[in-house]
Amino acid sequence: MVTNPIVSAFIVVAALAMFPRAGHAADSTPIERGSVVFQDECLQCHQIGAEPGGIQGPSLTGVVGRKMASVKGFAYSKVLMAKGQTWTKANLDVYLKDPSAFIPGSEMPVSIGDDRDRADLIAFLEATK
Ligand code: HEC
Repeated sequence: MVTNPIVSAFIVVAALAMFPRAGHAADSTPIERGSVVFQDECLQCHQIGAEPGGIQGPSLTGVVGRKMASVKGFAYSKVLMAKGQTWTKANLDVYLKDPSAFIPGSEMPVSIGDDRDRADLIAFLEATK
């Protein structure tokens, strides 16, 4: 047992200083987390920024604010071309949650069901403008 009050006070301060760190070892920004989701779920088919990704899907560089189906030379499905809207963050959120519900017949096979993963992913996509 510690009886010296200065040593006791030091132990309390040291314990308080350590406490906020507990459980935050993997602290990272939404964009950083979104980048990991992208690499795991999207990169195999989509190129982005300087990342040389797959070519099965169109490049997603600057997709937030871009007109749907507007990458020249990519063979989009008729249904995506017919949608004729802009990829707002809200549209991306609905599409990525369930692509074929937003655009029946869309050839995008991947969905991101977890709300936080999707929000992080969209933050990452937005940062590629
Ligand atoms: C297995 C390949 C594949 C994977 C994996 C994939 N996509 Fe796609 N993606 C496609 C294809 C193919 C299209 C074109 C769809 C169409 O024409 O209907 C597409 C289209 C899109 C579009 C529309 C782009 C535009 O120019 O209108 C967005 C946005 C998109 N994908 C985002 C994503 C995201 C984000 C991920 C990861 C969660 C992802 N995709 C994973 C194949 C893929």
